Amino acid sequence: MYYNIALIGFGGVNRALADIIATDEEKFYREMGFNLRIVAVSDMFLGSVYTPEGIDLALLAALPVAQGACATLPNGKATAENEDIIKNSNADIVVEATVTDSVTGQPATSHCRWALSTGKHVSTTNKGPLAFAEKELMDLALKNNVGFEYEGVVMSGTPVLRFADKLLKGSEIHQFSGILNGTANYVLGLVEQGHTFADAITSAQKQGYAEADPSADVEGKDVMLKVIVLANRLWGANLTRDNVQCQGITGLTETMVKEAVAEGCHWKLIGKASKQEDGSVVASVSPEKLSLEHPLAGISGAVNAITFTSGMLGDVTVSGPGAGRIETAYAILSDIIAIHQRKEI
Ligand SMILES: NC(=O)c1ccc[n+]([C@@H]2O[C@H](COP(=O)([O-])OP(=O)(O)OC[C@H]3O[C@@H](n4cnc5c(N)ncnc54)[C@H](OP(=O)(O)O)[C@@H]3O)[C@@H](O)[C@H]2O)c1
Repeated sequence: MYYNIALIGFGGVNRALADIIATDEEKFYREMGFNLRIVAVSDMFLGSVYTPEGIDLALLAALPVAQGACATLPNGKATAENEDIIKNSNADIVVEATVTDSVTGQPATSHCRWALSTGKHVSTTNKGPLAFAEKELMDLALKNNVGFEYEGVVMSGTPVLRFADKLLKGSEIHQFSGILNGTANYVLGLVEQGHTFADAITSAQKQGYAEADPSADVEGKDVMLKVIVLANRLWGANLTRDNVQCQGITGLTETMVKEAVAEGCHWKLIGKASKQEDGSVVASVSPEKLSLEHPLAGISGAVNAITFTSGMLGDVTVSGPGAGRIETAYAILSDIIAIHQRKEI
């Protein structure tokens, strides 16, 4: 069997997904019982293409990163056609991987809304729709009997949402705390080794961890959105940005970081939330000085990690990559597998 896929946004993540599909087509059927056929791509920069019987993946892989390049493909156009493709194509699953807008969540929220309301499953790696419209989109998915999956938004390909949902189900999770931004963690590590914050941020940019504008990483805003997504998923907390106290690593100095190391501690940017006895949820993002016994103290470099604290198990920590185009494309694959498994239940 086939799932027809429409890719909205064709940057690092969706390109990696297309490459994986092109390379491992046989493996999907063998291991998972389905094949994937990319029928549409729509991207602000590259333009769009819709071929109902499936786009030639070799041509897609060779598409140059040039404005309007999709016009060179059969059925291609130089302009994005998001709304038409999402609403009117024969896609079963829309994969939303456009740029995150952390102020409005748009236009990705509309992309998800259009897909779900026309009966298409959605997988997104974009925090925007989750942080701003998670409940509305979940309700829409339920009403239309389709899947709305977003494993990649919190820790990329490292499973966190499904880990908590499925594997820790019933264990009474009442708190989580995590290192959810690889850039901030990488920067703190370099400062511990004697670099200035400015040099460490430049190095993170050179490594491809930090954006040209690293403010969302170092001011904690990226972590704040992830905390909101996870708390809302775990506890239906209805948190918004107004409910989360947020402080990044910009208030730390090189001296504070080095003094902590001398004391046998590490500063880490921690996003956390806990469920209170009255059912309310308290969430925050701030730097914390952790002693070496803490499960998150030893997480170094651009790695992410999260500790769930539950009534039955105490602390359970998951760590792994929190970014990367292939890693995030894997999160989309895991979403598609979850969508497939809905049908098997
Ligand atoms: N890469 C990672 O490690 C990672 C990890 C977790 C989550 N994510 C999330 O996954 C999403 C995709 O990441 P990425 O690394 O693939 O980003 P990217 O390389 O910047 O690609 C995004 C693509 O979407 C296009 N785009 C922007 N707005 C659009 C719109 N309204 N309609 C159609 N296309 C649009 C962009 O075109 P322009 O260049 O013209 O803007 C660009 O080609 C982001 O939301 C990101 O936050 C990424």
